[in-house]
Amino acid sequence: MRQSPKLFIYDLDGVITDTAEFHYLGWKKLADELGITIDRHFNEQLKGINRMDSLDRILEQSTSPTEFSEEEKIGLATRKNGYYLELIESIDPSHILPGIKDLLEANKQSGIKIALGSASKNASRILDKLELTGYFDYVVNAAEITNGKPDPETFTAAADALGIAHADCVGIEDAAAGVEAVNRAGMFSVGVGDEAHLAHADYLVENTQQLEFQQILQEFDKKQK
Ligand code: G6P
Ligand code: MG
Repeated sequence: MRQSPKLFIYDLDGVITDTAEFHYLGWKKLADELGITIDRHFNEQLKGINRMDSLDRILEQSTSPTEFSEEEKIGLATRKNGYYLELIESIDPSHILPGIKDLLEANKQSGIKIALGSASKNASRILDKLELTGYFDYVVNAAEITNGKPDPETFTAAADALGIAHADCVGIEDAAAGVEAVNRAGMFSVGVGDEAHLAHADYLVENTQQLEFQQILQEFDKKQK
C-alpha cells in the first residue's frame, strides 16, 4: 500500500517567500558599517541560521576582530533586524514565490497537515502579510527553540506539537543547514535550490515552481521501499 506522509513542514525564508534576499541585504548593511566584507557566496552559510548565530559568523569574518560584549551583540543584531523590518514593510501576497500557493492548496485539500518550521522570529508577521496564516495547523515559535538548524529541533518541535511521528513528515528547505536538520530529524527532505549546496536532500528541485504536491508524495513513497 502506498505510504503517505502525515505532515508537511515548510521553511519560510527562501521557500515561501524571497525574504532570504532581505536578510542578506540587512546583514550586508550591518557588516559594511562594521567594516566587514560579506558576499552572496558567504551568505549561503547564513541561510537557515538564527539571528545571533548569523551575527557570530559575520563577526568571525572580520580582519581586525573586536571583542563585543553580549549586550553589544544584541544591539548589533537588533540593528540588523531594524533594517530587515524596513525591507519587509511592503511585503504582500504578490511576494509569495511561484508554485507555493498551489502547493499549499493541494496540501490542504489532501488533509495532510501543514506546519511552518522557520528560525525567524518574524515568521508569524510575514505569514500574516502574505495572507497565508490560515493554511497552517502549527507555526513553530523560533523564540522557544534552544538549538537552531542544523539541529533537528525546529522540525521535531512541529511534529511533536501535532503528535505526528518524525518518519511521517516531509520538510521543505532552501538552506543546507535546513536540509541537514530535516535529515537529522528522520524526516523526508525536499531541497529547493542547487545541487552544490543541497546534494544531501532526499529529493531536490531547482526552484519553487518545480515543487509539485503529487510528485513529492511519490518521492516520499519511493523512499519507504
Ligand atoms: C531564517 C533565515 C535566516 C535568518 C533567521 C532568523 O532561518 O533563513 O537568514 O537569520 O531566519 O530570522 P530573524 O527574522 O529571527 O532574524
Ligand atoms: Mg530558508
